[in-house]
Amino acid sequence: TRIYIPSDTTAKALGADRVARVIEATAKEQGVELEIVRNGTRALYWLDPLIEVDTPEGRFGYGPVTVKDVDSLFAAEFWSGETAHPLAVGLVEEIPYLKRQQRLTFSRAGVTDPLSLSDYEAHDGYKGLRNALKLEAQGIVDAVKASGLRGRGGAAFPTGIKWQTVLDANSPEQQKQKYIVCNADEGDSGTFADRLVMECDPFMLIEGMTIAGLAVGATQGYIYLRSEYPLADKNLNAAIESAYANNLLGEDILGSGRHFDLEVRVGAGAYICGEETSLLESLEGKRGLVRAKPPLPAIVGLFGQPTVVNNVLSLAAVPFILDKGAQAYADCGMGRSRGTLPFQVAGNVKQGGLVELAFGPTLRELMFDFAGGTRNGRPLRAVQVGGPLGAYLPESQWDTPLDYEEFAKVGAVLGHGGVVMFDDTVDMGEQARFSMEFCVAESCGKCTPCRIGSTRGVEVIDRIHAGQNVDANLELLSDLCETMLDGSLCAMGGMTPFPVQSAVKHFGEDFVKHSTSEH
Ligand code: NAI
Ligand code: SF4
Repeated sequence: TRIYIPSDTTAKALGADRVARVIEATAKEQGVELEIVRNGTRALYWLDPLIEVDTPEGRFGYGPVTVKDVDSLFAAEFWSGETAHPLAVGLVEEIPYLKRQQRLTFSRAGVTDPLSLSDYEAHDGYKGLRNALKLEAQGIVDAVKASGLRGRGGAAFPTGIKWQTVLDANSPEQQKQKYIVCNADEGDSGTFADRLVMECDPFMLIEGMTIAGLAVGATQGYIYLRSEYPLADKNLNAAIESAYANNLLGEDILGSGRHFDLEVRVGAGAYICGEETSLLESLEGKRGLVRAKPPLPAIVGLFGQPTVVNNVLSLAAVPFILDKGAQAYADCGMGRSRGTLPFQVAGNVKQGGLVELAFGPTLRELMFDFAGGTRNGRPLRAVQVGGPLGAYLPESQWDTPLDYEEFAKVGAVLGHGGVVMFDDTVDMGEQARFSMEFCVAESCGKCTPCRIGSTRGVEVIDRIHAGQNVDANLELLSDLCETMLDGSLCAMGGMTPFPVQSAVKHFGEDFVKHSTSEH
């Protein structure tokens, strides 16, 4: 019998490797023939390590499995799909959390062995590239435009238009080189979707980047990976090696005469290097300082050449679009938000994990119907969507549909899909202070509103906390936020006011409460 044990960083942190070793040893000892496949993960984290067994009806799951459960699993002959064991969760694909998702990008996550090229190809892998090889560059760009895909890093700029800009850009004569750069510096709090792509389905990213190269005429790609992701580094490099060995990268892709090379470059732990221009500086071997735009990287990017900089999730969506067709992607979603966004639910949450959904359901549905509310059962009070630069949403805004424009209407962002939930013990004054402190730590220092403003922001919030001239200091904080918003060069300083202002606006009592405890 074939069984599957997840192998991503979260499952490993929860003991999956030890469970795998003990299951293997016990099977040997008891003479049970088990083939253990280390799949990626379904990212239903509250069930991890989730062990799956192949049965004629589909994969049957048990979770969360610890080393202590192995004896009872063997006693119950778990490999036959035993339903009576206390850890049995039934057919995995029938679990509502998974069944109700629209997994377009994450269709293979947890299903396949991440490093098996044949597994990837058996599950639609490389069909998109094969189709792309039959098209002219413009045809590929048109397909991406028609899909409605928008940048999944957070800014939601139409990917097809960015590609068109690079396709149309003339590379300076002396070099004639365009680049595809994948932004894999996933730094937002509570996010892990990029990591899951790279750890669980690395060929999908390689295929997406290769298609991007064909689309804009770039023959060199770089994946800029954050150093905190060693397993992603290992899996990407192993997958790249196997793609080269199978003519899927290199000088003559699948005998087409088309050329694309790909390398991984590891960052050094700076949040700001996720901003595209400082990422390019870092890739060029310099300190990660933000560049002024324009010129856009699409015109003057890496080493001064036209460059596509896309987030992992944007590039990972491309193989589906070229395989199943732009319309199949565009058919999902609402308004101008087409396709799916993989939400990552974290914080004080009962059922944390990855929820890939077509745009449209409300934030409340995501937090309750999927995530099940808070882990400790306390009332949910605030939720931060879109990373550390995203606004905090109070209950009055939880019925907002998950859609870029609908979020913008309430002064919030969807960003990269990170959702961090807080119960009623949260002190929003402290959270606002933390946002400013984060900006102090991560500012690249190039412009004054961000570099100095964030430090002053921490001081002003401290004075409010200490009950000193609360009204005047709240006004000063509001002015400071406006200055940062209008005067910062990039989103770091320009968006830090979002969490601060939303905390003051919707959770004002947490600021006033400090003032009543006179210091
Ligand atoms: P932006 O709006 O300046 O640009 C978005 C993208 O579109 C860039 O790649 C830009 O070069 C490109 N672009 C803009 N106009 C173009 C044109 N006419 N032709 C071709 N390309 C064009 O936004 P930015 O500063 O790149 O990103 C800000 C976002 O990053 C925020 O909304 C935030 O949600 C997100 N973010 C994501 C993080 C993560 O870990 N994924 C971390 C921090 C922020
Ligand atoms: Fe650097 Fe902050 Fe200015 Fe961005 S806003 S360029 S991080 S100083």
